[in-house]
Amino acid sequence: MTARLLLPLFPKLRRTLPVLDLGTFPTPTEPFQLDDSRSEQIWIKREDQSSPLYGGNKVRKLEVLLGSANRSEKDGVYCIGVTCSNWVAATSLHARAKNMEVHLAMTPIKGDAHNAFENEQTSLNHASSTIFSRHLTTLLPVALTRWIRLLPSRPLCLPWGGTSTASSLGYVGAAFELQQQIESKKCPLPSWIVLPLGTGGTAAGLLAGLELTRLPIRLLGVSILKSPSASAASVRFQARRILRRLGRTPHLTKNRLVVDPHQIGRGYGWSTPQARTAVLRAREESGIQLETTYSGKALAGLLARQEAGTLGNDPILFWNTFAGPHSSTPSTSTP
Ligand SMILES: Cc1ncc(COP(=O)(O)O)c(C=O)c1O
Repeated sequence: MTARLLLPLFPKLRRTLPVLDLGTFPTPTEPFQLDDSRSEQIWIKREDQSSPLYGGNKVRKLEVLLGSANRSEKDGVYCIGVTCSNWVAATSLHARAKNMEVHLAMTPIKGDAHNAFENEQTSLNHASSTIFSRHLTTLLPVALTRWIRLLPSRPLCLPWGGTSTASSLGYVGAAFELQQQIESKKCPLPSWIVLPLGTGGTAAGLLAGLELTRLPIRLLGVSILKSPSASAASVRFQARRILRRLGRTPHLTKNRLVVDPHQIGRGYGWSTPQARTAVLRAREESGIQLETTYSGKALAGLLARQEAGTLGNDPILFWNTFAGPHSSTPSTSTP
């Protein structure tokens, strides 16, 4: 639905961008109350409320990706990811809800994410077939090719982390959604949006959207892993591709994007003391559930920079990409 916000501006997308309605949009914006004197500065975008089935930042991407599978009359989708992945769990739930088959290729990963077990169970419970491989490098070229040949149907292969130029259009739409919320005074104009960076698709869509809306907002992407995808160069590259796809000059305002590499710790799936504190504070002081792999690291980055005084005094919007508790998660999953 959010990519549809782009249709009046980009009528060609009506033909080229199939979209399935999966989510509940717009997601609310509200003050993010934390117990300190500067907390009135922080607002939160409640992407956790993007779907009662499985919310978070995957829904806007899946609306486009499952829309493509639907239009190309594929029987289903196959999805590659790590066992603890929010992305794989979200895809499994949303695809099954639309009666699509889900085939999973998963690789285990070490870490201490509190929601890893629930995500794996959710994914396995909804998959039509699953293969596991210990190492991604052997998984991709060998097992995957054989496995796909064996499948009775020809499912659509979804990109890693759900990130592609097309799926990021969901986040270009999200920038237009935010613009409407600012204009209707549901949210003050923030000077910064803060969010975690994994494959960078969410940030790239927002970056392109901010250029198109001309909102004077900067983006702070907090890297959650050591990977070229979670770098400023990669996010800018992706954002330029999105703008080209929309037929616009791929111009990005200098310094609009800042990437924070200081919250990674041991790497993907491993918490840090700062992320654990941020998750605890969000839950105890504001009743917001985050996790330590993505959203906790992003909030830790925000708090560290706020403390250092580098985010200024204007409102800051924390973009909560985590799904929070969902219908397939047992209530014991709180960190
Ligand atoms: C909760 C959460 N936040 C952020 C991200 C990262 O989004 P992106 O890959 O678009 O950078 C993910 C990706 O899986 C996620 O699950």
